[in-house]
Amino acid sequence: MSAVSIRNISRRFGSAAAVAGIDLDVEEGQFVTFLGPSGCGKTTTLRMIAGLERNDSGTIAIAGQTVSDAQRGLFVPPEKRNAGMVFQSYAIWPHMTVFDNVAYPLRVRRMAGAEVQQRTQEALRTVEMGPYAERSATALSGGQQQRVAIARAIVFAPKVLLLDEPLSNLDARLREQMRSELRGLQQRLGITTVYVTHDQEEAMALSDRIIVMSKGRILQDADPESVYFRPSTVEVAAFCGSPNIVAGRVLRSQASPDGISYLQVAGAGWQGWARAGAAIAEGSEVSIVVRPEYVEISPMTADAPERSDERPGIQWQGQVVENMFRGFRRTLRVDCGATRILVDMPADLDVAKGQKVRLSVPAERTWILKEPTANEPAARI
Ligand SMILES: Nc1ncnc2c1ncn2[C@@H]1O[C@H](COP(=O)(O)OP(=O)(O)O)[C@@H](O)[C@H]1O
Ligand SMILES: [Mg+2]
Repeated sequence: MSAVSIRNISRRFGSAAAVAGIDLDVEEGQFVTFLGPSGCGKTTTLRMIAGLERNDSGTIAIAGQTVSDAQRGLFVPPEKRNAGMVFQSYAIWPHMTVFDNVAYPLRVRRMAGAEVQQRTQEALRTVEMGPYAERSATALSGGQQQRVAIARAIVFAPKVLLLDEPLSNLDARLREQMRSELRGLQQRLGITTVYVTHDQEEAMALSDRIIVMSKGRILQDADPESVYFRPSTVEVAAFCGSPNIVAGRVLRSQASPDGISYLQVAGAGWQGWARAGAAIAEGSEVSIVVRPEYVEISPMTADAPERSDERPGIQWQGQVVENMFRGFRRTLRVDCGATRILVDMPADLDVAKGQKVRLSVPAERTWILKEPTANEPAARI
């Protein structure tokens, strides 16, 4: 039985579809994240699971119980859904103490006083806020308020924890700390979690599984490494990191025993081998995802030989036109005629602006998508 089961849910606001047909099964104990740009329907989807928004079509079940069925007019209110929710704004009540904030869901459920005491203390201990119980909720830092919001969401031992961008109001350092606290807490409690964020790095760091959304639909549903290394579309690839998306055409296909295909591809002034999830017909226009951190760079000297591997990947020649020191890495932009390639390298290495260079990427570190690249995007640093 899935902890959360969603079938074909959608939601319109006026004439615009915020969510346009989503299917999802979340297994018990899984940490699943909706990832996508602002306005793609993440919050609306989460609010429909929580019961704070009605789905216009489809069904939602939590722990095997149908909580919403648009066609049958069935709608279970939020407090009866067995889901704890944490909002971006925390929604901590300022006029209450920390204890009363966390105890609130238990009091709404008319739990006996002694049990309220015991469970509230336990939830506060879980988020390491025990000593703050009698403090006014306004006398807390952002990180502490976030912990209180999490304690309040888990205090009634819900089947599912729903979190909407809970870390986005924290500064960068605290955000990273809370990120690992949150993952640790989720694993300790083993609680099924549905998380929403527009931050791809946060999604990768936290999740067992990422649902990439765009315009109210799911683009890809996979584990973080698949989303990053084997994106299903150019849009997914471009949303995760700042990859080079290079326009190419298939010259020749070669299937590999492990299901990965190596294709000979050519583009403006180059040709080489690249990797794809399946064979693609010769002559097809494709996009090749080349991550800046996998591009190897060497100065172009008269005696430097071209690489001559069996499947030589892709090589370009060009000139460094931009060099950005970023502390932990250095990013170069290399002008290779019709193609501009971003290269990410250790920051203590340096290649001067104006230097002529040879770039190469091994075939197994590329990823071909069966979509033409209309305009080669000028990759961003
Ligand atoms: N209550 C509402 N009334 C009208 N439009 C809304 C409402 N809530 C969300 N929307 C619209 O629905 C779309 C999806 O919003 P939302 O789910 O909040 O996206 P996300 O959380 O991914 O940023 C957006 O275009 C947003 O403007
Ligand atoms: Mg949102």
